[in-house]
Amino acid sequence: MPVVVRFEPAHVNFLIAGDERYFLFRSDAQGLLLLKDACPHRGGPLHLGAWETHPAAKLRCPWHGNAIPLRPLERAACPMVLREGQATAVLPSGETAPVFMQRRPILAACGAALAGAATSSTAMKGGGP
Ligand code: FES
Repeated sequence: MPVVVRFEPAHVNFLIAGDERYFLFRSDAQGLLLLKDACPHRGGPLHLGAWETHPAAKLRCPWHGNAIPLRPLERAACPMVLREGQATAVLPSGETAPVFMQRRPILAACGAALAGAATSSTAMKGGGP
């Protein structure tokens, strides 16, 4: 069952809902995307991947080096709306598990605004405020 979460991207860039992890990724074409933090190969932490633009935009997984093109990443992004500094997103799972919100270094981010030291962690019950 999907769960709706609300958070401020200026302070939160990483979500954990049960066994699933999500991170904010800045796409030049699409703006902020909320992506599942699991490589399709064997679940590697994509937020620690390397963003490459040549010859085509892709995210390289830190575990085995597979490259994931931008288009599939965009298509797999969680639905999210940004308004007045607030993000409202729909996670595909996490109905009963608390959703932990954190700020972590996002090495895969194109924008420097999302990269930074981990500073906080909060939790809220699934379903959002
Ligand atoms: S887990 Fe990502 S390339 Fe293997």
